[in-house]
Amino acid sequence: MLAPTLKPSVFPKNFVWGVATSAFQIEGAATADGKGPSVWDDFCRRPGVIADHSDGSVACDHYHRLEEDLDLIATLGVDAYRFSVSWPRVQPAGSGAFNAKGIDFYERLVDGLLSRDVKPYLTLNHWDLPSALQASGGWADRDTVQRFVDYACHMAARLGDRVAAITTHNEPWVITTLGYETGVFAPGLKDRKAAMQASHHLLLSHGQALQALRAQGCRSRLGIVLNLSPNQAATDSEDDIAKTRIEDGRMVRWYMDPLFKGSYPADVLDFLGADAPQVADGDMRQISAPMDFLGVNYYTRQMVSASEPFDVHDSGYEVTDMGWEVYPQGLTELLLRLHHDYPLPPMYIKENGAAFKDVRTGDRVHDHQRREYIAKHIAAVGDAMRHGVRMEGYMVWSLLDNFEWASGYDKRFGIVHVDFETQQRTLKDSALWYRDFIQSHKASHGLPTAELATGG
Ligand code: FCB
Repeated sequence: MLAPTLKPSVFPKNFVWGVATSAFQIEGAATADGKGPSVWDDFCRRPGVIADHSDGSVACDHYHRLEEDLDLIATLGVDAYRFSVSWPRVQPAGSGAFNAKGIDFYERLVDGLLSRDVKPYLTLNHWDLPSALQASGGWADRDTVQRFVDYACHMAARLGDRVAAITTHNEPWVITTLGYETGVFAPGLKDRKAAMQASHHLLLSHGQALQALRAQGCRSRLGIVLNLSPNQAATDSEDDIAKTRIEDGRMVRWYMDPLFKGSYPADVLDFLGADAPQVADGDMRQISAPMDFLGVNYYTRQMVSASEPFDVHDSGYEVTDMGWEVYPQGLTELLLRLHHDYPLPPMYIKENGAAFKDVRTGDRVHDHQRREYIAKHIAAVGDAMRHGVRMEGYMVWSLLDNFEWASGYDKRFGIVHVDFETQQRTLKDSALWYRDFIQSHKASHGLPTAELATGG
């Protein structure tokens, strides 16, 4: 049974349906054609940090299977494909010389999408910072801001005439908190002061890149992608409520306020005390440069408890293979709140999806739970739109099963199954459902679907 409110016709004619991936999680080819190392290549070599002791050196071997994967994307009948550029593939040391072979790969990717009538959505930073920049402090070092702006300008000069949109950063909260503060993701630091300085530099580099790209005449739409969730107190105790306010401040308002109001939230600055970032004159004005879109990644809500970690199994909701509650109403709630609290450009869901254990039968992969998850979350987006929220697109995470960071290959998010022994791709039931859903949406607006139906 699909979620009751899921009606394709709720979504306007030009609503963009897509699938998303990121470079490090699918490309492999870690040292091919002059690619330099990234912080994730380095992090994977540390003992014990990746659950299955794997790394991204082969992943989905997408770098060598580009044409096959482009055909796969076309088969789904999606309007858009969101991918990221591996910075060390195109500029191995993160400064200085660019790598022609690396850039050529993304030229072929973009042209291959356009020739199949799929809009390219490019992300510049999906976490794989060149190692050479980490050696001088990475995002905690203010010089990295200018390095990023140079890289952004170079990529936009090469691809900006053909990509529909350019995202500066994917999920700065994850880089900041998991990468620099708790250390469970690359670069694996445990330093809150460095983390907060890194978050400021990520935001500043976003704003400066936007201005630089506009100044050079880039016509793509420009924005950022944040991971946002409702934060809810596990109980109504004062401690839980106070902690929830800070967690919400650190995840949602720490990024949304500077981007859309030009200041950091005062309560979070108080909470951080001496760990608050150094901010130079003019930084906040640059960070709040107007955007053409805001990307939101949503997976679940955050339950916050001041005393002991909240056990998701206590709430009675279905739980994914990542241990995340299935909570689609949280997406509607989040979008309404953003719409209410901030002067927003149009929003996109740039990632939404779920890891579940798949059931393979012959040449079929039955992933009923993933299909339901996606359907319910699309319905949740539709509910927000009915209340006046401006949404322009939705993208499933992910096209392919891939390297799920510290969880390795065991957690599968793909709507396409990947056999990592043979690299064979198989459309799961969720992919077939998504393809049919997109077609019903097109049909409901009288758009042609016949060509898509044959996967042409
Ligand atoms: C997001 C990441 C993406 C993927 C999903 C499951 O935080 O942006 O790369 O790992 O989570």
